[in-house]
Amino acid sequence: MAEQEFEPAVALVDLPQGRMRACTIGGRSVLVCHTKEGLHAVDNICTHAYARLEEGRLRGHKLECPLHGAVFDVRDGRALKGPAAEPLPVHRLRVHDGQVEVALDPAAPPQCAEY
Ligand code: FES
Repeated sequence: MAEQEFEPAVALVDLPQGRMRACTIGGRSVLVCHTKEGLHAVDNICTHAYARLEEGRLRGHKLECPLHGAVFDVRDGRALKGPAAEPLPVHRLRVHDGQVEVALDPAAPPQCAEY
């Protein structure tokens, strides 16, 4: 499969530790999280139903969905607490010239649609 391109997501200066920022990369809604352990890029749409995770809470490396309270680990996308069972897709990330850039996981399934 072709290597995914890195695309600019957010300026690092706009993303202090403990914060998260949603962005659209290649038509996909992605959430960049800055934790004590570093930067992480995951899908911004919950795998349980349609909810934008940017409206939830980031505590350490745990991201809580605003709709039904599922909790994900932003480091690897694991679902730590239901009702979500599927992990969040995790995307590659790098910092280049003060810009956080994201390369989508080519194996990520389609995002849950809004309905
Ligand atoms: S939509 Fe996220 S837990 Fe239900």
